[in-house]
Amino acid sequence: MAAKQKIARIVGVGSYVPEQVLTNADLEKMVDTSGEWIVQRTGIEERRIAGGAEASSDMGIAAAIKALEVSGKSASEIDLIIVATMTPDVISSATASLIQEKLKASRAGAVDIQAACTGFIYGLSMAKAFIESGMYQNVLLVASEKMSSVTDYTDRSTCILFGDGASAVVISDEGKGLAVGNVSLGSDGSCADLITIPAGGSRDPITKENIDKGMHFVKLEGREVFKHAVRRMAGVCSECLRLSNIELEDVAWLVAHQANMRIIDALARKLDFPEEKIIKTVSKYGNTSASSVPLALDELLENKEVNPGQTILLTAFGAGLSWGAATLKVMNEEN
Ligand code: ACO
Repeated sequence: MAAKQKIARIVGVGSYVPEQVLTNADLEKMVDTSGEWIVQRTGIEERRIAGGAEASSDMGIAAAIKALEVSGKSASEIDLIIVATMTPDVISSATASLIQEKLKASRAGAVDIQAACTGFIYGLSMAKAFIESGMYQNVLLVASEKMSSVTDYTDRSTCILFGDGASAVVISDEGKGLAVGNVSLGSDGSCADLITIPAGGSRDPITKENIDKGMHFVKLEGREVFKHAVRRMAGVCSECLRLSNIELEDVAWLVAHQANMRIIDALARKLDFPEEKIIKTVSKYGNTSASSVPLALDELLENKEVNPGQTILLTAFGAGLSWGAATLKVMNEEN
């Protein structure tokens, strides 16, 4: 008899956001802006900021502990830890290895992936491939970002956007959860300069001159990125649904990257998708890059009625440029 096809499923989700809140009123005191402008142009009211000593791995561990608890798995059962981050603790070693050590996930491999705000969806595709090939049983996918560490708080066009936070999911080949359906991915490196941290890599290492010019901070061509974000997320959502044989009307919830309320609204209009089925967390957390989609997914599971058989559509867009979408099906039973 042929072996049964394995289905990767999310069996635990957990999140962590730092306590410190940075409000629009705080930003008014730091740069030439107004709360009214920020809310009108972005929908963001506040964001969380990690403490000085708190790094991406610390936030990731807090989220991972919660996800493991929900999944009923112990760290020693994890085969692989994938960390999606553009703000690793250090350039080397991988943040995943630091998390592996602290969690005492003794038999887990560990690797970081860098796809900026799309990192969670890229990580999901890898976890699915590892599990459905039969190579691994349990993968811990962590998305953690300390965006405040790469944000220039003298640049009003970027400092209003970003926040810190982490989320984690346990993806397994058994148990009740959210079955990972199709994952569609895309990239266009020809537009890489639209969102970038220019210095600190091998092309332009950290030097005093680069720091003086603020080249170690995120640079963003906001207006251009906005157009790409809407177009690419709409396109990849349609492709992902087509490959999954799912009609848009059959999607119960849309969890889109939380970069800007206007981007989410424009995406909904382009897809002709009903407002009330869209999860929005951007007003309280800002753009938390890789962790924005799983943070919003966690909110959906916590606060809305999610029923067996429903389809959840995830989509993200970020630096690279990179974009992706995935379908999740709420499982009725364990198989
Ligand atoms: N307060 C007041 N005025 C401001 C501020 C501010 N904080 N920031 C910019 N302005 C001014 C500009 O200087 C400009 O003034 P000017 O017309 O006199 O030149 C004016 O407001 C309009 O600026 P725009 O940049 O055109 O404003 P826009 O409406 O495009 O909003 C924003 C800017 C919020 C950045 C928007 O473009 C956006 O959200 N872009 C996409 C961000 C995104 O998708 N990020 C996801 C990827 S990020 C990642 O991967 C890490």
